Amino acid sequence: MLTPEQEKQIEMQNKKISDNLAGIGHRIVVFSGKGGVGKTTVSVNLAYGLQLKGYKTGLLDADVTGPNVPKMIGLNGEILMRDNRLIPQERNQVKVISIANMISPDQPVIWRGPLRSKLLVEFLGDVEWGQLDYLVADLPPGTGDEILTMTPKMSPDLAIIVTTPQEVSLIDSRRAIGMARKMEIPNIGLIENMSTLICPHCGARIDLFGSGGGKRQAEEMKVKFLGSLPLSLETRELADEGRPIVLEKREVGISIAFLDIVKEIENMFS
Ligand SMILES: Nc1ncnc2c1ncn2[C@@H]1O[C@H](COP(=O)(O)OP(=O)(O)OP(=O)(O)O)[C@@H](O)[C@H]1O
Ligand SMILES: [Mg+2]
Repeated sequence: MLTPEQEKQIEMQNKKISDNLAGIGHRIVVFSGKGGVGKTTVSVNLAYGLQLKGYKTGLLDADVTGPNVPKMIGLNGEILMRDNRLIPQERNQVKVISIANMISPDQPVIWRGPLRSKLLVEFLGDVEWGQLDYLVADLPPGTGDEILTMTPKMSPDLAIIVTTPQEVSLIDSRRAIGMARKMEIPNIGLIENMSTLICPHCGARIDLFGSGGGKRQAEEMKVKFLGSLPLSLETRELADEGRPIVLEKREVGISIAFLDIVKEIENMFS
């Protein structure tokens, strides 16, 4: 049971967050049930895909224990504060905020769940995003407490769930869809990542993790299927160098697939 004082505090915090995010047209949260399926890759490339279409875009790295966004986009430096507000960094015209650039790279983030949730909630109220068309939030893996605490406060209008076609990932993504429903996020979309590998030597299709599972799952669970992304060696290589594939090689299959998903998102909100 909360005391009236605690209730008042929460109410004030919620108001601070909603006022702070009022200048953002659409908020997209990216999550998955299973770790390592490509959430950060999807968040980064969709954010840049939206930016390429001329939208003012922000990227929030909300994975407090494994903040990988800066590495994948080649962002260094420190986050500046002005009047007790966090000023997002900027990389290729996207505004970015990540805990990674507030701590030293060797420092493990071992805070307990409630502390992580507290930090994320503070992030939401304290970052000076200004006017944005889209904010994309890369959430931590799983369906845990941090997501449940933070996500509703963002009032997202779209949840993107990333899965591979593999059964273990699909099972976990079902839980993630259930969670998005419970939080009453009005639009839920599924992306199948790491679908097909085209052999760079012989051109053969290899379905390393199976194929088609994402689409079937989306149909079964009655959520929108946003598209499939192939396994692509150069995506991984460029990501390791801090260069998002949609910015570097717009003509390759995976970039085309990302930009098609951006179109789906645009249509959803037009
Ligand atoms: N379609 C793809 N083709 C090739 N490599 C990929 C693809 N998608 C993701 N990867 C690579 O797989 C690894 C894991 O991806 P990523 O970090 O985006 O997953 P994640 O879901 O964010 O992981 P975590 O749960 O740890 O946050 C990265 O090295 C990334 O470059
Ligand atoms: Mg990640």
